[in-house]
Amino acid sequence: MRLSVIGCGYVGLVTGACLAEAGHDVICTDIDGERIAQLQAGGIPIYERHLDQVLAAGRGAKRLSFTPDAGEAIRGGDVIFICVGTPPKESGEADLSAIDHVARQIAREARSPKLVIEKSTVPARTGVELRRALTAYSRNSAIQFRVASNPEFLREGTAVLDFFHPDRVVVGVEEEISAAELREIYRPILERKFNCPVHEGKCPPGAEGAFLVTTINSAELIKHASNSFLALKISYANVIADICEKIGADVEEVTQAMGLDPRIGTQFLKAGLGFGGFCFPKDIQAFIHLSESVGVNFDILKAAERVNKQRIDRILEKVHKALWVMKGKHVAVLGLAFKANTDDIRFAPALEVVRRLLEEGAKVHGSDPEAMPRAKAVFPQVSYHADPYEALQDADAALVCTEWDVFRQIDWERAGKQMARKLVIDGRNLYSPRRMRELGFEYHCFGRME
Ligand code: UGA
Repeated sequence: MRLSVIGCGYVGLVTGACLAEAGHDVICTDIDGERIAQLQAGGIPIYERHLDQVLAAGRGAKRLSFTPDAGEAIRGGDVIFICVGTPPKESGEADLSAIDHVARQIAREARSPKLVIEKSTVPARTGVELRRALTAYSRNSAIQFRVASNPEFLREGTAVLDFFHPDRVVVGVEEEISAAELREIYRPILERKFNCPVHEGKCPPGAEGAFLVTTINSAELIKHASNSFLALKISYANVIADICEKIGADVEEVTQAMGLDPRIGTQFLKAGLGFGGFCFPKDIQAFIHLSESVGVNFDILKAAERVNKQRIDRILEKVHKALWVMKGKHVAVLGLAFKANTDDIRFAPALEVVRRLLEEGAKVHGSDPEAMPRAKAVFPQVSYHADPYEALQDADAALVCTEWDVFRQIDWERAGKQMARKLVIDGRNLYSPRRMRELGFEYHCFGRME
């Protein structure tokens, strides 16, 4: 099928490249001309595991192309995926101006019927407005627009893997034909009818995930409800961790046992610095805003958000307690991205920690395998070190903010000899408290017996 993708960020680029890999002809566009030029020249503007491989395959097979001309992209596909950003406004409400802009562009540029799919995370009822804008701005009433919602459930860092191995594909539609077209688009993935380039053990044939057809409103809500529930789970685990610290229990033991109940599940119960990224923090705010706008009280979500913000205070309390005076102290911050395997620093807890350390006069030495260039643009006053051992040289304390494998594998015996003081404050519970103690470290973590 001929597909267009508007917006080449994390979602759009992964969607476009993977749909090309699944056998479709895909044309992608973005308002950022530099980004498109980079993609046309064979570059990749973001770090996402396996994306290079999938992009190269799509380009090689001539099924994937990029254009700065939105009109060309719109006319080039029968089905258009809208993958533009929906950042939060000051009020927490989602800013839908990019969706509105694209809707007007599609209405103006289309010369044939289109199925327009919202893939960006949007509040419920955006589909209704999208349809209204498409009709209102169309210059040719003979051109039919259908609207659908197809929320993505991709995690940064494993987005390509997630795309090829979905737990569920949700399509919110108004007409049966839209559901049929979307099923056709996803058929190669659902039926594994292509040579899966990325599997990491997830490739055996068989049932690959459900294809769920819903109303557009439900599909929009499924996305918000899923992300908010996961965020809620994390905050719940973090409160349990605080209680564990107070009464002398171990949060890992508690959450592991809880998770063995299939009704609860083991995932997203990892305590520590809390969640960040461009999804959970903004989605939770947008969902609170939406619930308030329809007169529904969503206090539990507000509590989850508050708990998450307080994680930064919690780690800084630990730093203060251990370091006493912050001014002039050398602090190695290990991890700047909002989680491992991404270069994304948007709403990263690590950056908030860095900001607070700098405010208090600490000398910050940051290290991250992928996120340093982006962090440098925000905090040029930090010293950056590709090698974590360099960041730890003469440090008064090490703060672990992101769960990268390279940090898990640090040889603390070696690092301890380089540091000015053997102090580790672990915001991601990566190390064994006993082992760190044996190595002579003062070690603080979250909700575990130190
Ligand atoms: C999230 C969802 O997991 C995806 O399903 C969804 O498609 C995506 O948002 C989106 O809306 O686009 P992502 O933001 O990539 O994906 O990140 P997650 O892997 O969900 O992690 C979010 C944050 O929670 C990270 O900062 C992570 O460190 C933190 N986290 C995660 C914890 O603190 N504890 C946990 O147990 C799990």
